[in-house]
Amino acid sequence: MRHAGSSPTSFHVPGHHNGEALLHALHTIDPNDSLEIGKQLSAVMRLDLTELSSTDDLHHPEGAILAAQRLAAQCYGAEETCFLIGGSTSGNLGMILAVCDPGDIIIVQRNVHKSVINGMKLAGAKAIFLTPHIDSSTGISTIPSLEQVKLALRQYPQAKAVFLTNPNYYGMSVKLDAYVEACHEQNKPLLIDEAHGAHYGMHPDLPNSAIQAGADGVVQSTHKTLPALTMGAMLHMQGQLLDRRRVREALAMVQSSSPSFPIMASLDISRAIVDKLGGNLFHTAIEAVHSFRIWVKESKMIFTVGETELHPDKKTDPLRLILTVPSGKLTGFELHRELEKRGCWAEMSDPLYTVLVIGPHVCAEGAISRLKDALTDIHHAYASAECRQLERQEQMESKDPNEGISEPVSFARVKKQTSRSVPLHEALHHPSAEMIIPYPPGIPLLYPGERFTDRHLADIRRLSDAGARFQGAEDSTMDIVAILIEEKC
Ligand SMILES: Cc1ncc(COP(=O)(O)O)c(C=O)c1O
Repeated sequence: MRHAGSSPTSFHVPGHHNGEALLHALHTIDPNDSLEIGKQLSAVMRLDLTELSSTDDLHHPEGAILAAQRLAAQCYGAEETCFLIGGSTSGNLGMILAVCDPGDIIIVQRNVHKSVINGMKLAGAKAIFLTPHIDSSTGISTIPSLEQVKLALRQYPQAKAVFLTNPNYYGMSVKLDAYVEACHEQNKPLLIDEAHGAHYGMHPDLPNSAIQAGADGVVQSTHKTLPALTMGAMLHMQGQLLDRRRVREALAMVQSSSPSFPIMASLDISRAIVDKLGGNLFHTAIEAVHSFRIWVKESKMIFTVGETELHPDKKTDPLRLILTVPSGKLTGFELHRELEKRGCWAEMSDPLYTVLVIGPHVCAEGAISRLKDALTDIHHAYASAECRQLERQEQMESKDPNEGISEPVSFARVKKQTSRSVPLHEALHHPSAEMIIPYPPGIPLLYPGERFTDRHLADIRRLSDAGARFQGAEDSTMDIVAILIEEKC
C-alpha cells in the first residue's frame, strides 16, 4: 500500500505497469474510457507488483512478507507459516514432496483431493490407502477411523507420514488430537489438508483447528472461508517431525517465481481482520444460520438441513449448510440449479445434497433472507412433485479395519504401460489400468496400479447392481475392465 501510494513510475514487470499500460491500451480502443474492465482491473493492478526493494520476495522473505507470515503463524498458533499463492493445491504438493522421496511410503486416506494424488506422482511415492468412515446420518464420507490409522502405522513402520483431510467438503470434521498422538507415538508427522477450515478455532462454535490439535503440517485455503483472493492459502507448521527447509524448497519448486502481491496482501489483511475481530467476525453469521436451521425445521417444507452423527469427537461447521430434499422430489443437483435460477449460487452439489458456504458477512436480513425466499418459492413449485428414492452413499467400510488398508500403490513415473481389456472376473490379482470410481459415493475404489482383489470384484458387482455409475472407466457398466500388462522379468 505504501509503495502504491508513493506515485511510483514503473520500469519493471508486470507489463500492465501499475495498470497504466492496460488503461492506455483500452483508451486507444475506446477514447471514451467506457470499458468497465479497465477500471476494475487497474485498481487491483496498483497493488500487483514484483520483487522490489520496497516490497519483498516470497521465496526469500526478509521484509514485509516475512513479517506478515510471522503474524499469521502467531494468529494460528503455528511455529511457522508460509503464504501460498497456488491455493491449498500447492501446499499439499509441497508437504508431500517434503516428506517423500521416490519409493517412499505414505499413509493416505482414499478420498483425497487430486492435488494429493498429484503430489504422490511428483514425489514418486507409494500410497497406503485407508478407507474413510461413512457418517451414518448423512451417508457422507469423513476420515478413516483412528483404529485403522494405528493399524496402518503398525503394518507400515517405514511410512514417512500420515496424510488426512479434515474437514470434508461438507464441513464435517473429527477431533484430531488422538490421531496426532497415534502418529507422534510412532515419530511420524501428521499432515492435514484443512482446505475448508481456515476459520476453524476462531469461535467457540467452530471446530478446533488441526494446528490446535497438534498436527505437524496443515494446509488451509484462506480464500475459501476467509476474505482472501482466490488461490490465497497458508501452510502452517510446528514441531520437529516435518522438515521445514524441505517444505520451503518444495514450495519454491511448485509455485511461481513471480508470486501475486494482491493475493499475498489479501492473506495478510484476512489475518489482520481475524486478529482484530476474533470470534466476533463470525458471531452474527453463526446466529443467522442457527435461526435459519430452526426456520427450515418449523416451516415444514420439502427441505431438511443435513444433521450429522452425534458424537463427542465429531463436529460440523455451522457455516456450511447441507440442504437436501428427503422425499427425492429434487436431487441435490436439481436444488442447486433451482437456487441459481433464483439468484442464490451454492458451492456444490451431489445426488443428495446441495452445499452452501456461509460467509461471515451474512445476517438474517441479508443473504439468509434471500435464501429463505428462494426456498419458499422452490417449495411451492415442487411440493406436489413425484417422490423418488435418491441414491445414498453405499457403506464401503468393513467391520474388519484391516480390509480398509490397501497394499502399497506406486505412483512412480513409469514408461507408458500397455493395457488390455478383460471381463471383470479375469481381472483378479491384476493391476488396474484405470481409476475406478463408483458414483455414488465418488471415492476411488481402485487407483491405476492397484491390484484387483476378491473384495474389489465383489464391491464392484454390488455397487453396479445397486445402480452406481463408474465415470471415466472404459466400460461404465464394469462388465469389462482395463488391466495393465506386466512385463515379465
Ligand atoms: C479438500 C480439498 N483440498 C484441497 C483443495 C484445493 O484447494 P485450492 O483450490 O485452494 O487449491 C480443495 C479444493 O476444493 C479441496 O476441496
